[in-house]
Amino acid sequence: MPPNGVLFVLVIYLVTDCTLGTLQLSANVPENAQVGEIVTSVRSAIGEGWEEVRCEIVAGNRNIRFLVTDCVIHVARPLDYGVEPSYNLTVNVTGYSGNPEQLYVDVQVQNVGGYPPVYNDTCEMPVRTEKGKSNLSFDIKLTMEAVGEEAGVVSVSKNVDFRRKPKPFSFSEFYVTGNSDCVLKATWGPGHYADIRTVESLWQGNLTCLYCYGPPDDASVLVVVIFDGRRHTKCDIVHYDRLFLPAIDSHFIVTLSADVSGNKRQHFRCELPEKISVVAGKDATQFEVNLLEFDVEPVGCPPNKYGLLCDQNCTCENGARCHGLNGACKCQPGWQGVVCDIPHSTVVIIATPSDSRQIYISGSVTLHCRVFHLAADRMMWTFPNKTEKWLQGAQEDRVRIHNIQSEHNGTYTCTVLTGDGAVVNASYELQAVACPPGKTGESCEEECVCSHGGSCDRWAGCVCPPGWTGTTCQTSCQVGSYGQGCSRRCRCQHDATCSPTDGRCNCTEGWFGSNCSRPCPAGLYGRKCRHACACKNSATCHNVDGTCTCVSPWTGKFCDVIETDTDSNTFPLSLQIVILIVAALVLLILYKRQMAKHGAQEEPLEETRVLLELRNMEDDLAQSLQPGWLNRWERNADDLTLDELVGLGASAQIRRGRLRTADADVTVAVKSVRIEDRRCYRAFCREVAALIAVHENGEEENGGHPNIVKLFGVVTTSTPKCILLEFAAKGELLLILKQQPRLNGSLGRFARYAVQISRALEELRRLRIAHGDVAARNVLVSCDDVAKLADFGLAHDVYAETTYVSSGNDDVDELLPLKWMALESLESREFTCESDTWSFGVLLWEIAAFGEEPSYQRQRQLSCPKLVGLLRQGVRLDRPPGCPDKLYDVMKSCWREEPSARPEPAELEQRLAECGQEMDALLVVEKETSV
Ligand SMILES: *[C@@H]1O[C@H](CO)[C@@H](O)[C@H](O)[C@H]1NC(C)=O
Ligand SMILES: *[C@@H]1O[C@H](CO)[C@@H](O)[C@H](O)[C@H]1NC(C)=O
Ligand SMILES: *[C@@H]1O[C@H](CO)[C@@H](O)[C@H](O)[C@H]1NC(C)=O
Ligand SMILES: *[C@@H]1O[C@H](CO)[C@@H](O)[C@H](O)[C@H]1NC(C)=O
Ligand SMILES: *[C@@H]1O[C@H](CO)[C@@H](O)[C@H](O)[C@H]1NC(C)=O
Ligand SMILES: *[C@@H]1O[C@H](CO)[C@@H](O)[C@H](O)[C@H]1NC(C)=O
Repeated sequence: MPPNGVLFVLVIYLVTDCTLGTLQLSANVPENAQVGEIVTSVRSAIGEGWEEVRCEIVAGNRNIRFLVTDCVIHVARPLDYGVEPSYNLTVNVTGYSGNPEQLYVDVQVQNVGGYPPVYNDTCEMPVRTEKGKSNLSFDIKLTMEAVGEEAGVVSVSKNVDFRRKPKPFSFSEFYVTGNSDCVLKATWGPGHYADIRTVESLWQGNLTCLYCYGPPDDASVLVVVIFDGRRHTKCDIVHYDRLFLPAIDSHFIVTLSADVSGNKRQHFRCELPEKISVVAGKDATQFEVNLLEFDVEPVGCPPNKYGLLCDQNCTCENGARCHGLNGACKCQPGWQGVVCDIPHSTVVIIATPSDSRQIYISGSVTLHCRVFHLAADRMMWTFPNKTEKWLQGAQEDRVRIHNIQSEHNGTYTCTVLTGDGAVVNASYELQAVACPPGKTGESCEEECVCSHGGSCDRWAGCVCPPGWTGTTCQTSCQVGSYGQGCSRRCRCQHDATCSPTDGRCNCTEGWFGSNCSRPCPAGLYGRKCRHACACKNSATCHNVDGTCTCVSPWTGKFCDVIETDTDSNTFPLSLQIVILIVAALVLLILYKRQMAKHGAQEEPLEETRVLLELRNMEDDLAQSLQPGWLNRWERNADDLTLDELVGLGASAQIRRGRLRTADADVTVAVKSVRIEDRRCYRAFCREVAALIAVHENGEEENGGHPNIVKLFGVVTTSTPKCILLEFAAKGELLLILKQQPRLNGSLGRFARYAVQISRALEELRRLRIAHGDVAARNVLVSCDDVAKLADFGLAHDVYAETTYVSSGNDDVDELLPLKWMALESLESREFTCESDTWSFGVLLWEIAAFGEEPSYQRQRQLSCPKLVGLLRQGVRLDRPPGCPDKLYDVMKSCWREEPSARPEPAELEQRLAECGQEMDALLVVEKETSV
């Protein structure tokens, strides 16, 4: 960044030529000087007694680069050393006498390295026209697979988002540069405590430089280097030139540089050391990372913006195109200079189509010779066939070449003779070799049909995408090979299958790692190491099937039976009882010690555990929580009285209860985990965290949101752990709907609930929290008839078993509400605010169908792949009988395949309010006619 303030180095040498005084000043100015900056002051050179003078530049100010005010010369337009390296300004100074005196200012423009930015066509960025979700010019997706002590193998795949709203504790800075090459250089100072902790664990694990490489036939690299606050790093930097280290004050500085292409997604796979661990806190579970990949896809900036965050303004003029990465200008012919505002006397040939890859054998091209800022006297073309074409006085001419054949290839030159005898010319090299799409053969007359997205080459026929082979790309790669031309050998071990396109391994049970060479860590087994071993007493557990190998003297399936010799069976009963009692005592003592040890640091441990759990599910949510969050909501179990059970499922239960608060007793709904297993614990964590995030970040005075169930507190330090929620007297919306007589007019009342829930979604969107299970069963209605979104994760299985279907491939040990899930959630298990919008569409359907269970093509139960197939074909839920078209249109817009095309909650709110008004009007009419 150019420094502000006075930039000039003034070297004055006065050539005082007798009394008249011919003054010669000289000044240096860097070419990147901002418009308005001072070049030099004439006043200081003319000396005392000249206060009342006027100064005027009368000559030498080519293309009006400077202006003078009050005898001080300023930069008026951007300078460019490459175009105009010096100026000799003539300044008339008029004093009392009225007779101007002249002085000369010799301005030397100084070359600045890396300036101006170069417009590199190789990474020309798209210009984004539609309003996207994100404002970044790149979509950067991070895919990680890690294995944790308890969690097994976890896969995270998410977009890196640098635009998190600032948090009280966070200080995150982001910078980007890029000059002439296609390297994206970004620097980030993590400011949020959770980010700092993660970076710190990498630092402590000595993982401070990370090299990630593109596909084998591509030399692209992505490098991440971590520095500490003093700019030290533990890594041997190979590519110092690729780093960008601005002056920022941060615990750690993370720099990223990646070769990017302007028009395609780049994929990088990182080289990881044999064993790298990420720790989320000193007591937390360690994760061992075994796969880390980045996908970087250019999406471009809106018009007239550039930079990674699209926050820089383009300055290009005269129709020049602005580079999305560095803001460099690509001038239209006839212009030059940093911002293309300096006329360029030139002759150019403009070809249409301009992209030489779109000029085919048997196709055609137009060459247009144009003259800029010159007066052409004569114009002459020379063609590859050695013929010439002369034109008298023409300022432009077009030549069109039809049915291009190889003999048309060669150099086309347009030569212009100007009136003053100068000769200027321009050339164009025609090199058509390819056939038009779908054609092949020497003269491009044969049809070419390639399957699976293969492209057609004039000589070689089909060029197949990775994973396919055969003359028309009809055959998948043989087992054991993958990639372009099936030329690469799979390296998957232990019977893992390998993806024919990218060679990725799908490990069999008991193995993990990028080539499935590593057995599950101790204590875990099965597919993706997701199962915890049940072996007791230091037995080892088989990585594939979890069978236990006991250590003596233990035996039994889980090694929890003491091997007894035949004699011991004859122990008198009393002795056996004594042994049991002693064993029980020992266990009790051990347990108490354990508890004592635990008690001392229970709070941070629990909080860290929950955070870790959340990090696996939803990073955004974890980021919304400030340290101490769990403690702030902790309630004393003694203040709680439990009443009758109001809801019960396989693993969750809800009781009515009374909570004693400072002012009064309130009726609360007490949700608790019924079985302490992993699934329930996860859901519990998620619900607690989501509700606390909503209540701590809410805009309302007392926290929370009127359409989100109110949180009174949590009990996590004693068992049973529970969540204390507002008690909604009218109960679940689903039940209310089912009990409602099906009258046409009654829909209006429910439309109001829908409007209220859309407000809840709006709030969740603001807080970047995905609910994941928006459905009528999860909406509660309070005694004053307000709908509230509830169930942020716990009570999944309180309801009908058919609603939640185990995802089958045991990838996710969760029950999922398939028919409410968005297409992308079904496919990738990714839940976002946009997928909530889809579910909200299903909720609307439920309302219009009075609580009927949604079904596609009358099938009550569909497997996940079948459902995905139907949705991909465009099948959606039918219009419920009696549902107004307008309401059904709203539903359908929620079910658009492209998540960003779905309406935002604010739009839903408005459209539903309109629907509601129409339905109310209908109701009035009906009532009147029935009277
Ligand atoms: C600037 O122009 C004047 C008049 O043409 C000339 O006398 C002077 O030498 C020039 N200065 C330089 C540095 O070229
Ligand atoms: C500048 O000064 C010169 C002589 O001192 C004079 O001939 C000329 O006309 C002046 N130019 C303008 C634009 O005032
Ligand atoms: C454009 O970028 C590519 C890739 O980084 C580089 O190889 C090439 O030299 C650059 N071109 C110019 C004109 O700087
Ligand atoms: C990191 O490197 C230091 C110094 O080489 C070493 O002492 C330390 O054990 C390493 N840490 C890990 C986690 O490998
Ligand atoms: C870009 O232009 C807008 C509007 O003219 C202005 O508000 C903003 O500050 C400019 N941004 C930068 C980085 O110059
Ligand atoms: C030579 O090439 C030009 C341009 O393709 C064409 O117009 C002209 O007819 C050709 N002349 C001969 C003699 O082939």
